Order: sequence, then C-alpha cells, then structure tokens
Amino acid sequence: LREDTAVVIVGAGPAGLLLANRLIQEGVDCVVLERHTRAAVEARARAGVLEHRSAELLARHGLADGMHAAAAKHGTCEFRRDGTRFTVPYGELAGGVAHWVYPQQFLVRDLIASFLEAGGDLRFAAEVGELAEVATERPSVTYRQAGEDRQRTLRARLVAGCDGPKGVCARQVPAGARRVYERQHEWGWLTVLAAAPPSTEHPIYALHRRGFAGHMLRTATVSRYYLQCVPGDPPENWPAERIWSELDARLAVDEPWSLTRGELLETRTLEMRSVVSVPMQHGSLYLAGDAAHVITPVGAKGANLALADADVLATAMTRYLRDGDRAALDAYSDTRLPAIWRAQAFSRWLMELVHAPADGDGFAAQLQRARMDELRTNPSLAAWFAGQYVGA
Ligand code: FAD
Ligand code: PHB
Repeated sequence: LREDTAVVIVGAGPAGLLLANRLIQEGVDCVVLERHTRAAVEARARAGVLEHRSAELLARHGLADGMHAAAAKHGTCEFRRDGTRFTVPYGELAGGVAHWVYPQQFLVRDLIASFLEAGGDLRFAAEVGELAEVATERPSVTYRQAGEDRQRTLRARLVAGCDGPKGVCARQVPAGARRVYERQHEWGWLTVLAAAPPSTEHPIYALHRRGFAGHMLRTATVSRYYLQCVPGDPPENWPAERIWSELDARLAVDEPWSLTRGELLETRTLEMRSVVSVPMQHGSLYLAGDAAHVITPVGAKGANLALADADVLATAMTRYLRDGDRAALDAYSDTRLPAIWRAQAFSRWLMELVHAPADGDGFAAQLQRARMDELRTNPSLAAWFAGQYVGA
C-alpha cells in the first residue's frame, strides 16, 4: 500500500465520495479512508431527497446513471392541518424542475462503484485516529485497518475531512482558530422507516396539536415517517401500535384517506441540532459536509450541502495541485458559507411552520396558522418556498 498521496479523504459518505470521484476524473491522486465496511456504508439509510442542483451536479460529472434509472422525480408537496390539506406545486413554481427521490445509500453505492471502476484507492474498515501537521504543507493521517495491530500513516499535501458530524477532523482546528455556531432546536423527532408502500404521491407535512407528522417517500416498498416528540424521548416509548395510531391521528384529513401500515424497519430518536463551524479550513485541512456543518433533516438539505461543498473543494484542490493556484482553496469557506446559512435559515423557517409550539394553542400557534395561510394563498411566498425547497 502506498504511503504518500496528494489528497487524503477521511470518510466515504456523499461528501468524501463525490470529492474522490471528481479528483480521480481530474487526474489528481487521492486515497479515501472509511472506518466502516463497504456493506455497512451501502446499507445505511439516511437522506432520500436530492435537490435539482445536486442532480445537475451529479449528471455534469457522469455520476447520475443510477439516479436517472431508479429515482422518482417530485415537484409537489402537501401540507395538512385540522383535517384540511393543500398542495404546493413547487417544481412548476420554480420553473419546471424537480426533486429526485433517491435513497442516500444508493447514491453512496453508485459513487463507490464509479470510484473503484476508475481505479480509485478506497480503504474500508480503516479508522482514522489522528492527523498531524495540518498547519503545514505536509500533513499526515494515521489510521488503523481492522484486523491489524499496527497503525499506518499516510502523508499528503491536502486532507479533506469528510468524516461526518462526529468525526475526528473538525477537532484538529484549534479552538482559537474557529467559531462554532450551534443551536439546539426545541423539538424532538422520532424517525421511522417501514416496509410499507407510500400512502401518498408526494411528501406530507402535517401540523397537529400533538405535534408534527411527516410522511416522506423512499421506494415503492419502503416509506419514511417522522413524528415530533419530546426532545430525548427514547424509542422504547414508541411501540409499533403507538407509532401507527399517532401517524393516523396527526395525518388525518376530512376525506377518505388511510395510511398503509407495514413492518417497522428502524425507529430512532433524532437530536434536532444545527451547527456551523467557521472557517471550514485550517492549514492543509479542508472540512466538507456534516464534518463542517450539521442541519436537521427538515427541508432535506444535509446531503445536498455535502455534495455542493465537495464539488467546490474538488475544483479548488485541482487548481492548486495542478496549476499551483491557491486562490480558490483560500476562498473555500467564504465561497460555501452563504449557501450553508441560507439552507439553515430555510430549514429553521420550515421547522417553525410545521412543529406544534410549546404554548399549545397560544400566540405562537396563531402566528403559525397565519404563516401557513400565507403560504397557501400568497403566490410570491409560494414561489420563494419553491425555489428554496427544490434547490433551483
Ligand atoms: P456522512 O454521510 O456522515 O459520512 C461520513 C463518513 O465518514 C461515514 O461513512 C463515517 O463512517 C466516516 N467516518 C467517520 N469518522 C471516521 C474516522 N475516524 N475514520 C474514517 N472514517 C470515518 N439530507 C438530505 O439532503 N436530504 C434528506 O432527505 C435527509 N434526510 C435525513 C434523514 C435522517 C434521518 C438523517 C439522520 C439525515 C438526513 N439527511 C438528509 C442528512 C444527510 O444524511 C447528511 O447530511 C449526509 O450524510 C452528510 O454527508 P457527509 O458525507 O458529510 O457525512
Ligand atoms: C425525507 O425524505 O426524509 C425528507 C424530505 C423532506 C423533508 C425532510 C425529510 O423536509
């Protein structure tokens, strides 16, 4: 195994894998280190919605074949409240574009396959322990391959920290050199994946006194549901019968409609937290995706931001390593942060729109009704929502 490369990429999620594919296409040598096995990362169900611009980005680099073959295109979402419902044709409002419903693990599988086919060096079951000399131009990364006693070290010119929200890379930036903006949102979420066909043609956001309920799409046989719960409420409090009856109650409409049940595949509670770490770079280390910023699933932006970061980083790293031009690398954080904050702003706006406020039917709930009415009746607001939501 080589011990020297141009770029070490830590983490084989959407960010690390897009970066790896783009670098190998540009002829830039890189090695990807991923702590889990290939089977584990290809089975990890998370996001499911790719924005229009992410789909374009994948297509531009020849990485969209799997998505084009299997994904469903969506341009409408539905809001429910008090037995009523309305839809927003956001694809049309945004100029005839769409979301692509494509489970994240399928995208990860495609990106792994294309990188390996191109001759890429991707080491699974390789857990990075520490980074050294990231402030210099000769950083190194130490990792342990499963089943081996000794640690290995890879030297590089640049390191890409694409190791997700709990990774080791972000910690390498000295506390004095970065500012971490953080918000713990006031709601909790129970996330549910079930072997049930969708009971809807488009994603549903339902607002209910007892809390938000979401019915999101995955495949013809698997659906994703979300239930607002008390922050920290453990999944053990949510046996199958409670989940389905709560979804029935919160999604109910005053017309014939029923929710198709199925076997629960996964039930988890999610911490609703947002983090943005500024800057997203330090010396030779560049952070991308969840390693640099975390966003709640509301609005479905996380994987899309990860792909966009990696795309900008790939161009910047290539310019530096091939032509010696550092300008785009130096500007990386400043280039990406405005879009990251806009996504955070949109996600928080949508969260406030659909979650039951803590004051029952008090002042906040009345504001929320007014906002929902505005979205339903004001074409300018619907058009703004559409552009933000679909990522046109
Ligand atoms: P990750 O996908 O987390 O990848 C990081 C990789 O680094 C992992 O494979 C990890 O194993 C590896 N790693 C970590 N530490 C080490 C180490 N020390 N050494 C080696 N490897 C390491 N986003 C959307 O856009 N749309 C959605 O609909 C959506 N829904 C979501 C629903 C849920 C329930 C959740 C939890 C998230 C959702 N997201 C959604 C967010 C999205 O999944 C993430 O934003 C996305 O995975 C970020 O990609 P990433 O490559 O930055 O990080
Ligand atoms: C999802 O598909 O998981 C999803 C979609 C839209 C959201 C949140 C989550 O706003």
